Amino acid sequence: MRLDKFLSDMGCGTRSELKKVIRKGLVKVGGQTVKDPGFQVGEDADVVLDGMPVCYQRFVYMMMNKPQDVITATSDSRDVTVKDLLEMDRYAGTDTEEEAAAAASRRDIAPVGRLDKDTEGLILLTNDGDLSHRLLSPKRHVDKVYYAVLERPADESDAGAFAAGLEITDEDPFTAMPAELKLMEDRKEVFLTIREGKYHQVKRMFAQRGNTVLFLRRVSMGPLELDETLEPGQWRLLTAEETEALREI
Ligand code: URA
Repeated sequence: MRLDKFLSDMGCGTRSELKKVIRKGLVKVGGQTVKDPGFQVGEDADVVLDGMPVCYQRFVYMMMNKPQDVITATSDSRDVTVKDLLEMDRYAGTDTEEEAAAAASRRDIAPVGRLDKDTEGLILLTNDGDLSHRLLSPKRHVDKVYYAVLERPADESDAGAFAAGLEITDEDPFTAMPAELKLMEDRKEVFLTIREGKYHQVKRMFAQRGNTVLFLRRVSMGPLELDETLEPGQWRLLTAEETEALREI
């Protein structure tokens, strides 16, 4: 890849800023000053910017506890997006801050899947398109677990209907795949595991049962669980174990 891309991917500046920096002779590759921004480097190149070594990381993975009133998008003219929240004052990881800052400043990061504006909880953000595709593929049936607060208590008949594969008969009908409903002591609080991700799926499933979801939070996606220490709006990088577990999907 080009040297200016290598550096901009690592959050060292914009391509145009970096072209100037490179032309000024502030970048060395393999110990030699390189003044050509288009100079080709590999991912393992020994690149030093103004005395600071820059290691290339191809893929970055972060989890966020999406707050309500924020949309799952990368940019929007009206609403705050999850990508807008990737700022260091919302970073709640224990990794080095430089690594997190470099990851957060990458332009190729996108959220995996979508939560409604009023839904809280686990959002994975990454630039690993293949992984994203696998997690979202309708063929893979990755479990997504939601905690919901309902207007009315749910009961065993709801659990039975969900387990059997609920017919949704709204304006966009479909048959939901069997889903698991776990009732809490206060039956207005439930955990629902679904294996697909249709638009407003959880809300529509409860609406079909004559109920209303008052609050919704995604707590897991496949092997990835929402880190409960993350306040709404906070994020962190995934651990090596979490990334590995996702890659095994
Ligand atoms: N189901 C919903 O209804 N909303 C979400 O945000 C996610 C799943």
